[in-house]
Amino acid sequence: MEELEEYDFLYGTAWKEDRTSALTELALSMGFRAIDTANQRRHYFEEGVGQALAAAYRTGLVTRDDLFLQTKFTYQRGQDHRLPYDPAASLSVQVAQSMASSLEHIATDHVDSYVLHGPASDDDWTEDDAEVWEAMRKERDAGRTRLLGVSNISLQQLQQMEAACTELPTFVQNRCYARLGWDRAVRQFCRERKIVYQGFSLLTANRKVLQHPLIISLAASANATPAQVVFSFARSIGILPITGTSSAEHMKQNLASRDVTLSPEAVQAIESLAG
Ligand SMILES: NC(=O)c1ccc[n+]([C@@H]2O[C@H](COP(=O)([O-])OP(=O)(O)OC[C@H]3O[C@@H](n4cnc5c(N)ncnc54)[C@H](OP(=O)(O)O)[C@@H]3O)[C@@H](O)[C@H]2O)c1
Repeated sequence: MEELEEYDFLYGTAWKEDRTSALTELALSMGFRAIDTANQRRHYFEEGVGQALAAAYRTGLVTRDDLFLQTKFTYQRGQDHRLPYDPAASLSVQVAQSMASSLEHIATDHVDSYVLHGPASDDDWTEDDAEVWEAMRKERDAGRTRLLGVSNISLQQLQQMEAACTELPTFVQNRCYARLGWDRAVRQFCRERKIVYQGFSLLTANRKVLQHPLIISLAASANATPAQVVFSFARSIGILPITGTSSAEHMKQNLASRDVTLSPEAVQAIESLAG
């Protein structure tokens, strides 16, 4: 797990459509080495990520071994008509087909992390999830992914996985609302089990927090921007942050947030800012 520490910022590729390739290549050139995508054409253009990687390999910017590549399996209910699998096939076969399609899109024989985009139900870890998870484990055992994750998962669903003696994920990827203590309960579950917590929407879910006097004054004294304070705070409480910025300047600033240090008191104050 130590090797994961070198990947301390994920670049998210959602909602970039025909700019996906150029923006992913820009992110690599700015220094991002961990990329988050999904085989869900509705929100992601995974082939565009593949084009960026091919270009970056060609110019010698990076090699496959320098990178942490993460993609996702998405149930049909989260997709539009552009499915990466046969919807009439069993869920296990859909996982295998989606993985094969992802590997083709990003021209690799394995990803580093394969994530269930979200459980089938908002409430429980269902039998469908158990079938999909088993199929994902088989993909891992066959060497097509090194690690597994689950996204958009609740504490209850994680507890149900554990109660069923199901293998727990290496990663949880969730939306982080400050008003929920930055997903405090799920983060605690993860911390106690050494699950790496990936946080998204750190900025977009917390627009008011970015304007809060506490954040503004911490930013001023750290000579940083409010966004940098939020990313630095996130890392301080064990969140592996994801950014989906389309701006070169923000890419630079977000990576530079690694050098923004907050006192333990400041971290605690931000954590309890809204809940
Ligand atoms: N698992 C899931 O269901 C799920 C759902 C949503 C997202 N995600 C992943 O998370 C990724 C990131 O999404 P996100 O919504 O969390 O992105 P985000 O980085 O929180 O938000 C992006 C927004 O913040 C702005 N921004 C970024 N850096 C900034 C900075 N330094 N200063 C000021 N504004 C800044 C961006 O504007 P600019 O473009 O102008 O910088 C954009 O409007 C997605 O691409 C995807 O990979 C996963």
